[in-house]
Amino acid sequence: MHPDRTPVMAGNWKLHKGIHDTGGYVRELVQALKERGDLGCEVIIAPVFTSLAVALQAVWGSPIKVAAQNCHWEETGAFTGEISAAMLKEVGVSHVILGHSERRQYFGETDATVNGRLKATLAQRMAPIFCIGETIDQRRAGETERVLERQLNDGLAGLGAEALSTLIVAYEPVWAIGTGEVATPEQAQAAHAYIRGWFSKAHGDGFANRVRLLYGGSAKPDNVKEILACPDVDGCLIGGASLTAESFLPMIDAAASR
Ligand code: 13P
Repeated sequence: MHPDRTPVMAGNWKLHKGIHDTGGYVRELVQALKERGDLGCEVIIAPVFTSLAVALQAVWGSPIKVAAQNCHWEETGAFTGEISAAMLKEVGVSHVILGHSERRQYFGETDATVNGRLKATLAQRMAPIFCIGETIDQRRAGETERVLERQLNDGLAGLGAEALSTLIVAYEPVWAIGTGEVATPEQAQAAHAYIRGWFSKAHGDGFANRVRLLYGGSAKPDNVKEILACPDVDGCLIGGASLTAESFLPMIDAAASR
């Protein structure tokens, strides 16, 4: 991590925790963070859509921010099963995860649809957590940087530095998600340095030095310190280990005590 960039520790709950489990868990997190005082680290949780209102109520007055896990590019219309950025804004959401590999893999998301969703999120003045990352076949074929470049070029197409000022990027190698196989610090640092270099070329050094880049993929309390020690890693997007206070809190502490 770099001292000039505030770290972000974000929990992506995926398809876990309905309203009952959300209320109790978020109150536990709020209390634990209150006891810690100023963290010097941003904490974000991303519950399922139906748990957003309960989560937002429970974080009220605390530093925890609430993210949605996706949003549609249109504000209203015949799009069964979708939710719009305006609707998320209305409920009080501040961040939206976009382009997660599970959306790309199982639900047909493409760089173009992610781009549309990202623009809708920014238009509602919410901060995107934009996910990119290569599959194991792409890594083995030596295509990691080419894949990241395409995802960045196409996912962020048409958006300038000013529009992207709240952007957070999550580098999530698909082969490390939910597998227990974490990227080595060298692999994580190399990918993050590549991504920061892309921003430097696209939007200048100032932007590249400010943008927060999170690592995601089997981040756990026992490996988080070495991941966070990488100079271009500014935090983590955490799946499984964000679902209990027992594992999420020590990871927040690791970022806060950098
Ligand atoms: P895991 O931490 O469960 O591997 O999930 C990572 C992830 O996909 C976060 O978005």
